[in-house]
Amino acid sequence: MSDPLIVRPAARLRGEVRVPPDKSISHRAALFGAIAAGETRVQGFLDAEDCLATLRCLRALGVQIDEEGRDRLVVHGRGLRGLQPPTVPLDCGGSGTTMRLISGILAGQTFDCVLTSNEALRKRPMDRVIEPLRRMGADISGDRDRFPPLRIGGGQIHGMVYHLPVASAQVKSCLLLAGLYATQPTVLHEPAPSRDHTERMLRAMGVKVDHQDGVITLQPPPTGQPPLAPLDIRVPGDFSSAAFFLVGASLLPNSSLRLLDVNVNPTRTGLYDVLIRMGARIRLENERTLGGEPVADLEVGHNPLESTVVGGDLVPRMIDEFPILAVAATQAQGVTVIRDAAELRVKESDRVATTVAELSRLGARIEERPDGFVVTGPTPLQGAEVDCHKDHRLAMSLAIAGLVARGETVIHNAGSIADSFPGFAEMLEGIIAPLDAERRA
Ligand code: S3P
Repeated sequence: MSDPLIVRPAARLRGEVRVPPDKSISHRAALFGAIAAGETRVQGFLDAEDCLATLRCLRALGVQIDEEGRDRLVVHGRGLRGLQPPTVPLDCGGSGTTMRLISGILAGQTFDCVLTSNEALRKRPMDRVIEPLRRMGADISGDRDRFPPLRIGGGQIHGMVYHLPVASAQVKSCLLLAGLYATQPTVLHEPAPSRDHTERMLRAMGVKVDHQDGVITLQPPPTGQPPLAPLDIRVPGDFSSAAFFLVGASLLPNSSLRLLDVNVNPTRTGLYDVLIRMGARIRLENERTLGGEPVADLEVGHNPLESTVVGGDLVPRMIDEFPILAVAATQAQGVTVIRDAAELRVKESDRVATTVAELSRLGARIEERPDGFVVTGPTPLQGAEVDCHKDHRLAMSLAIAGLVARGETVIHNAGSIADSFPGFAEMLEGIIAPLDAERRA
């Protein structure tokens, strides 16, 4: 893929594609496999920068990981307490999921280590894991107790009852992983449901994790009993990657697209619910269960969209999909309001500010709010030079905006797309029918 990425207007999207494997499930398969007893086989591991950071950290902790082809892994688990002290700092790159989840595992070890990151991740809040892990007995500190790098020493972990201040699957997963090293249960109250891949996978590995009315309880495996059982995991397609094509095909007349084997876990499909409410034509077909996760093929065609209001419990169910929802809203009839989404400000970029700034350059009528944005549509977009601020999801959202705009859209810093969706530009190229030359200008 070229950087900058240049996008030209398209007539429609057509065909059948398989989006890359789910990023969240890939991270978890490698991390949980590393502390299981035996070989975990992962088919369809996401070969993207963020997940490669997780493999790099695990290898530095003495975990043998065999790569068989591009997307198959065998993780040789070392058991809950078998990781080795690293001789180098663990480099999490730009992956918040790597840093926050692995912190839960490292809190329960008996050695010291340091977690470093790239510059972008150094600006993202880690107090959300530092503070509760300390309450569980962990010896952990960060830069000004808020940011990477983190230093984690061994600690005697104990279970606790904790009310999560934000609905964050990364924080929840971190604390559940630390809870594996406690002797008492860990009880977490979630303000709203966040993605539950950790609970599903730990359960499949034999851990007692219960979820009732927003309260998640993990019983640590009793000492002397076999710990986590290794798994054979097939990772389904990532709904968050499918999201770009769902919106692209909804917006471009005469589109007809089939997306195969997409994870449709209800804690992830908030955007589907919102698009349907806006009038989108999306059908779930061939619904089935794959590795403990609901999966379906998604059929999507064009339909005019109406504006909507998104807030409350819906927000965590589509937390990564707001930049692409903003693109959909620019073409929807009426005023779309996004609220209760201040979390967007601490993602790979401040996604409230960057989405508003970059879509404005394309002529969108979009206004910033402290906890979201307001979009008025429909507005014809005009291609321009934009910057994705090294945020992969903003880059791909701008690419979809470029398909419905007139003229050429040049997206700077688009190399970041490789964080979650290597091959995005090529896959898009394969399903685009270009506009006739005279209608392009
Ligand atoms: C993730 C959880 C979400 C999401 C991120 C991946 C995960 O983050 O934005 O891309 O795999 O648990 P938060 O938990 O910080 O909301």
